[in-house]
Amino acid sequence: MSVDGKTKVCGLIGNPVAHTLSPLIHNTLAKKTGHNSIYVPFQVESGEVQNAVRGAYALQVLGLNVTVPHKSAVLGSLVEIDELADKIGAVNTLVRVNGGYKGYNTDMTGLHRALLSEKIRIKDEEILLLGAGGAARAVAFMCAYYGAKRVYLLNRTIEKAEAVAREVNEALQTECIVPMKLEDYQKLPQKQFLAIQGTSVGLYPNSQEAVISDTEFYKRIHTGYDLIYKPAKTQFMKLVEEAGGKAYNGLKMLLYQGIDAYELWNQTKVTDETANEIYELLQEEMKINE
Ligand code: ATR
Repeated sequence: MSVDGKTKVCGLIGNPVAHTLSPLIHNTLAKKTGHNSIYVPFQVESGEVQNAVRGAYALQVLGLNVTVPHKSAVLGSLVEIDELADKIGAVNTLVRVNGGYKGYNTDMTGLHRALLSEKIRIKDEEILLLGAGGAARAVAFMCAYYGAKRVYLLNRTIEKAEAVAREVNEALQTECIVPMKLEDYQKLPQKQFLAIQGTSVGLYPNSQEAVISDTEFYKRIHTGYDLIYKPAKTQFMKLVEEAGGKAYNGLKMLLYQGIDAYELWNQTKVTDETANEIYELLQEEMKINE
């Protein structure tokens, strides 16, 4: 990669940013698609987000990704916001427009694209969503936005599931999100579901844990998608597979949130072949860091 007077700069603001895989995704994409651009992580303290975004605009920065803890705080620094990101109330991608940046949530468009790449549909599906924290809440919005028939939102704390269901149903004028207590899964309709694992349970180093351990539950799942990608095979995924279902981790979601951002910044389309090459690099990187 050579940097010259015409190199466009993109980056990531968050804290911490030291272990991000995004530079690998974006700098490889630039090399493979022949764009003269570079991607760098910027550690930004809470309280400095507005200054960082203003400074980036002054410096002609083409686009930014935003990660924890700034995904909501950055909303006040935008001049425009995409419809889905606005509903969710969190953005992870800023695209330079006249006078500032427009915010998008490519975490969720990326998850949708990752699912489609595995031929997993959201539209008209009945889905089990485990969790009601920040990540699961965004997934609930995504499922309703892309036309899921029903989403059973299962959470340990029922009040949180109810609050998220109310919020999503109201915002998207639907009744598709149905809150449930986690231990009430026996009351689910007798059929098979796509299940999205959106809790933090099972995340490295607690790799042996799953939010539900009863094997009976896993017989209800034809496809399990875990948002976690470290470990590469979570306990949730193992239990889905042992019960005869297909299971995926969240690494493709990470890949496609990056690809969606890259496409927005560079007004380009990344081919499936390039996407697969980057996916292989990510998998290798995960193995190295195991
Ligand atoms: P994130 O931003 O990653 O979603 P979060 O907002 O802290 O993180 O949410 C964590 C989610 O994991 C919640 O749904 C939480 O359930 P509660 O709302 O009942 O707290 C769920 N979770 C975490 N530890 C859990 C456990 N041991 N058993 C069941 N659910 C758990």
